[in-house]
Amino acid sequence: MADNKAKLTIAETSVDLDVLSPTLGSKVIDIRTLGSKGYYTYDPGFTSTASCESKITFIDGNNGILLHRGFPIGQLATESTYLEVCYILLYGEAPTQEQYDKFKTTVTRHTMIHEQITRLFNGFRRDSHPMAVLCGVTGALAAFYHDALDVSNPVHRDITAYRLLSKMPTVAAMCYKYSIGQPFVYPRNDLSYAGNFLHMMFATPCEEYVVNPVLERAMDRIFILHADHEQNASTSTVRTAGSSGANPFACIAAGIASLWGPAHGGANEACLRMLEEIKTVEHIPEFIKRAKDKNDSFRLMGFGHRVYKNYDPRATVMRETCHEVLKELNLNDSLLEVAMELERIALNDPYFIEKKLYPNVDFYSGIILKALGIPSNMFTVIFAIARTIGWIAHWNEMHEDGLKIARPRQLYTGYDERDFKSEIKKK
Ligand code: ACO
Repeated sequence: MADNKAKLTIAETSVDLDVLSPTLGSKVIDIRTLGSKGYYTYDPGFTSTASCESKITFIDGNNGILLHRGFPIGQLATESTYLEVCYILLYGEAPTQEQYDKFKTTVTRHTMIHEQITRLFNGFRRDSHPMAVLCGVTGALAAFYHDALDVSNPVHRDITAYRLLSKMPTVAAMCYKYSIGQPFVYPRNDLSYAGNFLHMMFATPCEEYVVNPVLERAMDRIFILHADHEQNASTSTVRTAGSSGANPFACIAAGIASLWGPAHGGANEACLRMLEEIKTVEHIPEFIKRAKDKNDSFRLMGFGHRVYKNYDPRATVMRETCHEVLKELNLNDSLLEVAMELERIALNDPYFIEKKLYPNVDFYSGIILKALGIPSNMFTVIFAIARTIGWIAHWNEMHEDGLKIARPRQLYTGYDERDFKSEIKKK
């Protein structure tokens, strides 16, 4: 992979470094030998650092391209199902009909969770944020599924992948049911992955819930569009946690914790709150002004991305899906009107143009989820269900490549060595 050399000169010393050529994307300078020469690189937020080698997902942020195992996200979102995307992310190739049927059957047959886990929920306050509950219960799965935990064994890793993929919607729907005081609804094997999730969310023992196919497709698309996004904060967290050989359920719980933040998966909830606060198109200029004000911490939620400096390709599909859902439900959501006008104004504003701030995937997803009847505190939970496959695929790839514990260095700016003198009286 190294087809070029770079020379780094520091004072009198010069160090030769390999320049690696990826299949797609920018060249990467291999700095692994620098530490032995007594130097480290400084890169807070890893804006210029490739933390691993990966074959799963490729993003070209300048041109708005997102590929999973080489397949463009637009094609996957319109031509495949979420489970097909899961198979592709996990195994690298599109499944044959036979492989898909087997995969789907296995995922479908493992959706129930150990009955004792249902009792864990009672320990949480009903008004807990569902992400807090999801994080806790996912970590607790480690205490129930520990018969296949040799992380160096690919068969064990496969079993774990199935368990997480199958059980995450069940746990997520239970978080919701618990928060509204309704009984848990058990999974149904005759429904699709997305249909089953909607059923577990909205069915009650009192009446039948019929899954609307347009809404089921929208849910499936939301899952597809959030399935993976290379080395984002939560995926890097899962890799970091897993790099010590840690329990996979605990690693996914760590990913959930990272996802929760408003700069990451929490943005869809924050975006909907912002649209509700803006309320009408007349108020948009005031919020645009605030977003541009250096002395105001307000940011336009659902805008900007660390990697995309162009339209997020997922946002394009999300926008179409949003229109489909509102049409099917015959809803005339004023928030959609606000969102479209906000997008139009921001895309024509020199501040946003200059800083290359485009709508990201979260900009429209909140409106769709709201139309589906999902409360805003569940939005990030749904993101977590979808991203679980990405986390597992990366966790698995890291194990296949051989574990190396993540251990960054630092630029120390604290005290020099100094004498300690205790001022505490000893008895
Ligand atoms: N509104 C207004 N200004 C913004 C916004 C925004 N949404 N995003 C970035 N900027 C400005 C910053 O103030 C900064 O300006 P400066 O150069 O004058 O200081 C410049 O653009 C660069 O911003 P950074 O924060 O340095 O860019 P970074 O790559 O670190 O951040 C992030 C990316 C966190 C996504 C940011 O754009 C943001 O906070 N967006 C809003 C939250 C959001 O939508 N997050 C979802 C991300 S997608 C996902 O996780 C699925």
